[in-house]
Amino acid sequence: MLQVQHNAFRSTNFLKSTQALRRSLQTKHVKRPPLGFAFDIDGVLMGGPEPLPKARNALRILNGDNALHAKIPYILLTNGGGYTEYERAQKLSSCLDIQISPSQIIQAHTILKNYVDQYADKAVLCLGGIGDTMRKVAESYGFRKAYTTTDVLAWNSSIWPFIHVSESDLASAKPVDFSRTPISAIFVFHDPRNWGVDVQIMCDVLQSGGLLEGPYVDISTQQSNPIQVVFCNPDLLWKSDFPRPRLGQGAFKASFEAVYKMITGSEYPYVQFGKPTKPTYDYARRVLQNLMEESYGPGELPHMYMIGDNPESDIAGANAAGWSSILVHTGVYDPTTGPPTHRPSREARDVEEAVIWALENTLTGLKSEKA
Ligand code: G3P
Ligand code: MG
Repeated sequence: MLQVQHNAFRSTNFLKSTQALRRSLQTKHVKRPPLGFAFDIDGVLMGGPEPLPKARNALRILNGDNALHAKIPYILLTNGGGYTEYERAQKLSSCLDIQISPSQIIQAHTILKNYVDQYADKAVLCLGGIGDTMRKVAESYGFRKAYTTTDVLAWNSSIWPFIHVSESDLASAKPVDFSRTPISAIFVFHDPRNWGVDVQIMCDVLQSGGLLEGPYVDISTQQSNPIQVVFCNPDLLWKSDFPRPRLGQGAFKASFEAVYKMITGSEYPYVQFGKPTKPTYDYARRVLQNLMEESYGPGELPHMYMIGDNPESDIAGANAAGWSSILVHTGVYDPTTGPPTHRPSREARDVEEAVIWALENTLTGLKSEKA
């Protein structure tokens, strides 16, 4: 593994040559930064609700405290979610002491904005999160008939007889008669809190062709307008502040698939987004392209560095996108368990070491170009 000697950046020769490089870069009016970053959140910047030790400094380096004295563009690309991008940017800005704009944030469900045209005025079921938080996110994207499984429980709690619907849930619920409101799509925005309820209601919606309490329909004959099912995060495991990785939305999907197969004998087709999927990395590339154009005008995307803790999602996706990938040891991946399932460009102890290595790697590359 590459050991980045922090003082490597402080050696006089390095500083001298870098200053020369910086001057040459500036004299050439080369304002476009030569590199860009995509940061994973859980296990890289955040360990549960608290920032990881080196997170603040890593972002400070990109904010100008670097050998180029330049702001280096970056996005936050997470399989997490549960808030609007505006709320997430605010939360992260305050706990990381750095201004992060909503346009820099790509959560697992951000890509669902692409479905608004098709489903704006159709009833859709939004899974995940607590109470009506996912409805608020869906409505902020433009879905005007967004419902939650809490709404379904408030309509008829006997759909899952093992639960007592709390006063606060009832208060946040939207009154609707689901026996007359056909559900056109199920979007699993974020990690469901009560898998039993959500698996039950997903099966009910799909087996009855969208009308709860309706007669079961033969899915194979429902070719006209099958109910769209979309999962936003494939992570089987993710790292919070518990010492061991936790089950993620991917485990929820596996449970749904197993139950649905047992009761219907068939598999229900679904769309999967989230890292490592190509649609999510393409979405991220477009977001960064827009950010770059805003600051530097039209032009090529700089070489991208993805910093992640999960080989299955962060590293696999970045490698497939042709980006450099840096695997940190502060999250899901445990180096004592052997080599990662997907080989990164580099491994690093933490996010700060990863950023410094990427900068050095770029400066070294630029120097050799200049030589
Ligand atoms: O639920 C979030 C989790 O699956 C991973 O989040 O930030 O590591 O992609 P992140
Ligand atoms: Mg992570």
